[in-house]
Amino acid sequence: MRRKPCVVVVYFLIFFGFFHLSNFASAQKKPAEPIMLTLEGAKLPPVPFSHTTHVEKGKIECVTCHHKDKDAKEPQACGTCHLLKEVKDNAVPAKDAFHKNCQTCHKENVAKGNAAPVKCNECHKK
Ligand code: HEC
Ligand code: HEC
Ligand code: HEC
Ligand code: HEC
Repeated sequence: MRRKPCVVVVYFLIFFGFFHLSNFASAQKKPAEPIMLTLEGAKLPPVPFSHTTHVEKGKIECVTCHHKDKDAKEPQACGTCHLLKEVKDNAVPAKDAFHKNCQTCHKENVAKGNAAPVKCNECHKK
């Protein structure tokens, strides 16, 4: 009888583990692959962004980019806070937020001898 609570805990963990996995795998919450990033009224071609490249191959943590989300499974779009033109609550406009996030890391990688797109038309691909 004294083992029982333990068994219950194990069942709970198994159940919760599955719940979590299936939750993560559900098509609804998985970002598109790649996401085609394009701001409203954009003049240049959209920029493809791949979570597979960055998260699985690059091992970059969610919070590096989703920097205001503790639980990145349902992150807010960058544009929720980074508006098209104005600075809101200290959040720079969207174009600057994207350029700073994407380009800073890519430049650091190129400086270390890795390949990552840094030219305009490597990201804004026709
Ligand atoms: C590392 C990837 C990357 C590189 C390199 C890059 N951009 Fe962007 N840029 C983005 C992303 C992401 C956005 C936001 C989504 C969009 O609208 O394209 C953006 C948005 C823009 C926008 C506003 C939207 C539009 O199309 O009018 C302009 C203008 C722009 N970039 C110009 C440039 C220029 C000029 C260069 C080269 C000097 C450049 N970018 C290099 C990723 C990049
Ligand atoms: C290198 C940067 C980067 C990393 C690392 C990253 N993401 Fe993202 N993620 C983005 C960008 C950019 C978008 C597009 C956001 C937008 O549309 O404003 C996005 C979008 C998403 C979306 C879709 C949001 C929507 O409403 O369409 C989900 C879900 C998501 N990311 C989850 C994750 C999770 C979970 C991780 C970690 C395992 C992660 N991301 C790691 C940059 C990143
Ligand atoms: C909940 C609101 C919110 C969301 C969502 C958000 N940001 Fe931010 N971001 C901010 C605020 C506010 C700042 C100002 C500094 C701070 O408070 O961290 C900022 C700062 C930044 C900076 C530094 C800018 C600079 O010039 O120093 C970058 C880069 C950035 N965000 C990129 C992103 C990207 C890319 C995404 C989406 C993957 C994103 N942010 C999502 C609110 C947000
Ligand atoms: C913290 C570092 C980091 C950030 C932030 C980052 N990248 Fe990257 N990115 C990389 C590295 C490293 C590679 C090279 C990966 C490889 O080829 O294995 C890469 C490759 C790419 C590629 C070419 C490979 C592919 O998947 O098509 C594109 C396009 C790209 N990044 C777009 C973006 C955009 C757009 C953003 C901003 C929303 C961004 N990246 C933010 C590190 C980063």
